[in-house]
Amino acid sequence: MNSLDADRLKSLLPAALAERVRSLRLSAGRVTLVVDATGLEVQERPALEAQLRAALTGADGVAQVHVAIMADKVQPVILAVGSGKGGVGKSTLSANLAVALARLGRKVGLVDADISGPSQARLLGTEGQRPVAHENRLVPVASRWGVPMLSMAQLTEPGAAIAWRGSMVAGAVTQFLEAHWDNAEIIVVDLPPGTGDVQLTMLQKFKPTGAVIVSTPQDLALMDAARAVSLFEKGGVPVVGVIENMAGYACPHCGEVSDPFGVGGAEAAAAAMGLDFLGRIPLDIAIRRESDAGNPIAAGDGPQVQAFLALATRVNDWLVQRPLQPGSQAAL
Ligand SMILES: Nc1ncnc2c1ncn2[C@@H]1O[C@H](COP(=O)(O)OP(=O)(O)OP(=O)(O)O)[C@@H](O)[C@H]1O
Ligand SMILES: [Mg+2]
Repeated sequence: MNSLDADRLKSLLPAALAERVRSLRLSAGRVTLVVDATGLEVQERPALEAQLRAALTGADGVAQVHVAIMADKVQPVILAVGSGKGGVGKSTLSANLAVALARLGRKVGLVDADISGPSQARLLGTEGQRPVAHENRLVPVASRWGVPMLSMAQLTEPGAAIAWRGSMVAGAVTQFLEAHWDNAEIIVVDLPPGTGDVQLTMLQKFKPTGAVIVSTPQDLALMDAARAVSLFEKGGVPVVGVIENMAGYACPHCGEVSDPFGVGGAEAAAAAMGLDFLGRIPLDIAIRRESDAGNPIAAGDGPQVQAFLALATRVNDWLVQRPLQPGSQAAL
């Protein structure tokens, strides 16, 4: 290998790719590139790698292309968890999805965007932990589950009523999302129910990479879910899919499974809206009990864990493989 080879191979790359190359070596037919992906979202890296491969594969003397990607600062993707209706389990699923994504090896943070009804400090067992500020930005609070988080519950007295004007709510959400998330790759955002100020701030200022819609199986919740889908779609936020929560009830005494809200409704509704169905989580007394105790069930080793890991795998696959959005920096 000599520098002529390196220059020759580099000249095969489009300028926008070439300027990301930090080193390039050719040895025994194998090119090894170190590429700087700073500023790209994590899920844009495969496209970067594919473009480099495509440009160099088949070049004179090149049998193999090996790409190593480095980045100074990871740009996290924002994954919103929403529903039209309250009380369907958004917060419970956000916490467990975040924990399950972390178990898959992703670096995950959690933002409780329910400013007037925060629940994530309870769910992740971080009540009473106060975040500090560093250079005017909040530092997320560590939880025992490898998922740092921020919630209004950490900035107010327990049980205090939080009645804020819209601009203050938007300000709080902004502070949470602009906190020191360091190397987080994915920030899961637990939204309040409905279509209020928080949703508007999220759509206008921090456009999520994708939104997950939670619904219970009954018709009314499904109609509200459709409203949430339409809100995200109007805001240009792709919907990852629909999760059915509280699907089927296993009697803790006799084990018989009943379906108080019917069965298959969310899956059919997702199909009718042209959306993916991400899976169902049963109505399970252990989920409620452990949630209240600050032990997300997805962090344990009970029978519920598989359902959450399967859910997290689908969401993660979507994040990695999603089609790049117009205007995304990976258009290079
Ligand atoms: N799969 C489940 N099995 C048993 N209980 C559940 C399940 N999912 C949620 N719950 C319980 O249902 C209640 C409501 O859940 P949660 O707070 O997550 O809903 P939410 O959609 O975030 O509500 P809100 O709209 O008020 O923010 C909680 O007590 C929670 O523990
Ligand atoms: Mg909630």
